[in-house]
Amino acid sequence: MHQEIITRFKSLKDKQLSIDITRGKPDVEQLDLSNELLSVSISTFSEDGADLRNYGEPFGILEARRLGSELLDAPIGNILACEQSSLLLTYQTILSNFLFAEPIPWKDIKNPKFICPVPGFDRHFMMLNDFGIEALPVPLNEDGVDIGSFQKILESEDSVVGMLGVPRHSNPSGEIYSDDNLLNLFKIGKNFSREFLFIFDHAYLIHDFLPSKKQKPLWEIASEAGVEEQTVITTSFSKVTFGGGGISFVAASGNPLKLIKKVRTTMIICPDKLNQKRHVEFFKTTESVKKHMKKHAELIRPKFKIAHSFLEKLPQECGKFSTPTGGYFITYSTAKPIATKVVSLCKEMGVLVTPAGSTHPKGHDPNDSVIRLAPTYVSQNELSDAMNVFTTAVLIAHYDLKV
Ligand SMILES: Cc1ncc(COP(=O)(O)O)c(C=O)c1O
Repeated sequence: MHQEIITRFKSLKDKQLSIDITRGKPDVEQLDLSNELLSVSISTFSEDGADLRNYGEPFGILEARRLGSELLDAPIGNILACEQSSLLLTYQTILSNFLFAEPIPWKDIKNPKFICPVPGFDRHFMMLNDFGIEALPVPLNEDGVDIGSFQKILESEDSVVGMLGVPRHSNPSGEIYSDDNLLNLFKIGKNFSREFLFIFDHAYLIHDFLPSKKQKPLWEIASEAGVEEQTVITTSFSKVTFGGGGISFVAASGNPLKLIKKVRTTMIICPDKLNQKRHVEFFKTTESVKKHMKKHAELIRPKFKIAHSFLEKLPQECGKFSTPTGGYFITYSTAKPIATKVVSLCKEMGVLVTPAGSTHPKGHDPNDSVIRLAPTYVSQNELSDAMNVFTTAVLIAHYDLKV
C-alpha cells in the first residue's frame, strides 16, 4: 500500500496543479444567484423619507434595520444596519470597549484577556492581537463551548473581559452551540462580572446546507439570562449576496450599543444606504432571504459530499474529521502531530490549504493537528483533485513515507 501512495504522490505532483482551498468563499454560481442586485431599481428615498443619496441615517435605514431585526430576532431599537463587513463591526465593538469601556477601558487593564473557543477563526485571533488582548483557548464540544473549561478560566485567570465565538456552524469545525450551552455561558459570565462581554459572530446564522440542530435566537436566550447589555451579535450578507458586497448588522443593547455608536460616529458618517435599499428591494422579505439561502445550500452540499467522500476513505487511525450541516468549512484533526507536514506536502503537490496553526491563538496549535479545509470556492473537479492531494498528504505524513 505504501508504494502505491508514493506513486500517487509522484503522479499528482506531475499534474502541476494550482488549486487554492484556503478561504471560505462563495463560488461563481453562488454569486450569480444575486446578480439581479446589480440592476435592481430602487427609490432614492427610504420608507421614512431619508434621501439615500446623501449623508444621514448613520445607523442604517429603517427598512434594512427591520430586516436585520427579523433575521436576528432582536427588537429594531437594538439593531444597527451597517456597511458590508460584520468583521468590521466586531472590530469596532472591541475597539469601543478598549477605549471607552466602563468603569475601566480595556486599554487601562493590565494584560486584558478574551476567551476564544478553539479551533477558531484566524481573523478573530488577529484582531485581539492588534489590541494586545490575550486569547485564551477553550475547547469546543459538539454542543458548544466546554463549560468546565470556561468556568475554570474565569476562576483562575485575572483580567478576563469577554469571549468571542461563532455560535452556529462555527468556523472552522461546524459546531452549533445548544440553547443550554448558551444559557450556561451567559449565566456563568454574568455571575463572574456584569462587565463581561459576550461577542457572537453569527456569520453562518442562515447557512444550513443539511438539516441542522435547532437553535433559539441568541437574543432571546440572552434576554432569558438577563445579559442583553453584555451581548453583541454581528452578522452580514457576505455569504448571502456578494462576498464583501452585502450589508452587515449588529444587535446590542445598553452600554455596548452606546459605545459602538460612539466609535462609529467618529469613524464613518453613514453606511452605503443605497446598497442597503438595493438589498431590501432585492429580498423584500425575510422569507425570501431564507429561500435564497436554500439555493446556496443546493450548490454547497455537493461540494461537502465530495470532500467527505475522500476523507471517509482515510484509515480511521490517521485522524478524524468534522461533518458540519452548514457553514463553509471542514476540519481534519490528525492523530499524530503532523498538520504542518500535511499542509506543506499539499503545497508540494500544488494545493494551498490554510496554514496549520491558524485555527489557534498566535497561530500555535499545541498538538499540530487541526487543518481547515474550505471546499466551496473551487469547481467540483478541482475539489476532487485537491482532496486527492490532501488525503495523499495525510497518508504520507501519518506513515512517515519518504517521498
Ligand atoms: C466567522 C466569520 N466571521 C466573519 C467573516 C467575514 O464576514 P464579513 O464579510 O461580514 O466581514 C467570515 C468570513 O469568512 C467568517 O468566517
